[in-house]
Order: sequence, then structure tokens, then C-alpha cells
Amino acid sequence: MKIFLIGFMGCGKTTLGKKLAVKMAYNLIDLDHKVEEATGSTIADYFSAHGEEAFRKLESDTLKNWDYPTNCVVATGGGTPCFFDNMDWMNANGLTIYIDMPAIALAKRLEKGVAKRPLLRGLTEAALVNFIEEKLTDRRLFYQKSKLTISGINLTPDVLRAAVLAYR
Ligand code: S3P
Repeated sequence: MKIFLIGFMGCGKTTLGKKLAVKMAYNLIDLDHKVEEATGSTIADYFSAHGEEAFRKLESDTLKNWDYPTNCVVATGGGTPCFFDNMDWMNANGLTIYIDMPAIALAKRLEKGVAKRPLLRGLTEAALVNFIEEKLTDRRLFYQKSKLTISGINLTPDVLRAAVLAYR
């Protein structure tokens, strides 16, 4: 089974994904890393050089054409579900789980990672919360198509694993 972790930047997809994968003896696929491997540059550099549109195309191609192991946890990028038919594709190919977190909590977690995330570059602390609130309003429409929604506040890998097992 493929488990796709969905949610805004900073909600914990990669960290929780790694731990969930260990607990389930699954492989972890980090989509951002796969895109970086494919381009040979960081996402931030790729954005600067080629723009967001090129990144989204590459992200979607990587998502759909990756040679996934049978059982894996896929940590997606925060924007992955919101472009092309990526969300429908993930729903057709695995279990999608939305890690839901309010904007204020995301802002706290993202404060230090602003520089490496191209969409957040240059935002002040105050502007960050507003930006997240606005983006989240748009993106929730896609995120909410996930088969499962779980609150990311105090979420542990054990709770996540229990939700997966209960769903199967
Ligand atoms: C993005 C999220 C990032 C990365 C890129 C764009 C977004 O992934 O794919 O910077 O549009 O929300 P994380 O959610 O892993 O930070």
C-alpha cells in the first residue's frame, strides 16, 4: 500500500513519515528529495532558475512516474495536491492522509525554515501568518479530498499508524 501524507509546509509530513515508515516497516519516499535528485539542485534554486510552473510540472511527473516499492509512505510537498490532477491520482493509487494544522501553529513551526522554502522567502513573522492563512484557505479545498484527515497537533507516529490500520 502507498500512504500519501498531505498537508501544508511545516505540518510534519517528512518527520512523521519517516517514523511511520519505520513503524510499519515500509520505505519512505520524500517527493521533494526525489525532485531534487532529478534536477541536481535544491528546490529553492530550481524555483529561482526555472519558476514555479516548471517546478509544478516536474513535481507532478515525479509523483506519477516514480517506481514506488509496493509498500511505502510518501511525504508529498505542501503544494503537490493542489496542481493538475495530482490529488485524484493519489486517491486512486493509495491512502491519502491530510495532516491538519491551524495557520498559527504552522507559522510557529515555519519561522526558522523560511529561507529554504521559496514560497516563504522574504516574509516577515507577521506576514507569514497572513500568507499561510490565505494559502491554506485555497489549499484546504484540495487537502480535504484526502481519505483521512488527522489533526497534526501533538500527532504521534503511533496514532498515525493506528489510523492507517483502522482504515484498512
Ligand atoms: C511547497 C512545499 C515544499 C516544496 C516547495 C513548494 C508548497 O514542500 O515542495 O517548496 O508549495 O507548499 P514541504 O511541504 O515539504 O515544505
